[in-house]
Amino acid sequence: MPRPRILVTRRWPAAVEAVLAERFDVSLNTNDVALNATQLRAALRDYDAVLPTVSDRLPADLFEGEPLRTRILGNFGVGFNHIDIAAAKARGIAVTNTPGVLTDCTADIAMLLLLSVARRGGEGERQVRAGEWVGWSPTHLVGTKVTGKTVGIIGFGRIGRAFAQRCHFGFGMNVVFYNRSAIDPHEAARYGAEQLPTVEDVLAVSDFVSLHCPGGAENRHLMNASRLAAMKPGAILINTARGDVIDEQALIAALENGTIRGAGLDVYEAEPNVPERLRQMENVVLLPHLGSATEETRTAMGMKVVDNITAFFDGREPPDRVV
Ligand code: DGY
Repeated sequence: MPRPRILVTRRWPAAVEAVLAERFDVSLNTNDVALNATQLRAALRDYDAVLPTVSDRLPADLFEGEPLRTRILGNFGVGFNHIDIAAAKARGIAVTNTPGVLTDCTADIAMLLLLSVARRGGEGERQVRAGEWVGWSPTHLVGTKVTGKTVGIIGFGRIGRAFAQRCHFGFGMNVVFYNRSAIDPHEAARYGAEQLPTVEDVLAVSDFVSLHCPGGAENRHLMNASRLAAMKPGAILINTARGDVIDEQALIAALENGTIRGAGLDVYEAEPNVPERLRQMENVVLLPHLGSATEETRTAMGMKVVDNITAFFDGREPPDRVV
């Protein structure tokens, strides 16, 4: 039996690429730049499995028309809003993701952003690097205290819970959250958190708001102009989920008008493009989608993809099947 032909759309940790090469007939995108629609379309036509990342866009039209060879998309990541999963399913293509292994590291990046914005770490770092620091003073880069404040979490899945745990047990914060479905209060209490009925209820009481819900149509622009206006004056918004959960133009206006104090962002609406106006602001901390970026996590994500496609081609159910 010939080994399944696999296309890996970006370079992966070397240890994972080695395991893939032992099991499959692997083609690597050695340029390590995101593939365009024509290249992805050709991949669906020519490979048994395609292993995309968040930087590959697979909308419905990519799955239309001519016969497709691809039977599984083994996504390298937990979020899969860059893939039209209904269109994939309609062509009989399975989709898998990598839940669980990036929970802690993504929650860490949310915490890093919260602390950096609250304590003005980005501004301070820029000053020191630019040689502009003129010495300690009682009023220099004074931020806002974290301990004792309230953080509101939107989306209480794995990452939302890990973030709650850090905020409550690590930093002595009060934690409230909104989640579409009801969470057992005893389960919420394990993370020191309390569920509130609506997003607005969370916004009304939170000094910090952190987004941990999926991207895609259901949550697109969940944080729109009116919700930004409903945040407490002086509140800080953190986003490590997906860029489209925030209306970026409305956020820029809210930051410029002083409706909110600041923002910490790891994700953007049109990555890797970050609006010039955001990049000019002092009261934002901007990271380049680093949530899962540790050696351990990226290797674990890759091994999950290997497990998923190995199960699929062995005729077993992939452990992390989405459709
Ligand atoms: C994820 O896994 O969804 C991360 O955002 C990287 O894609």
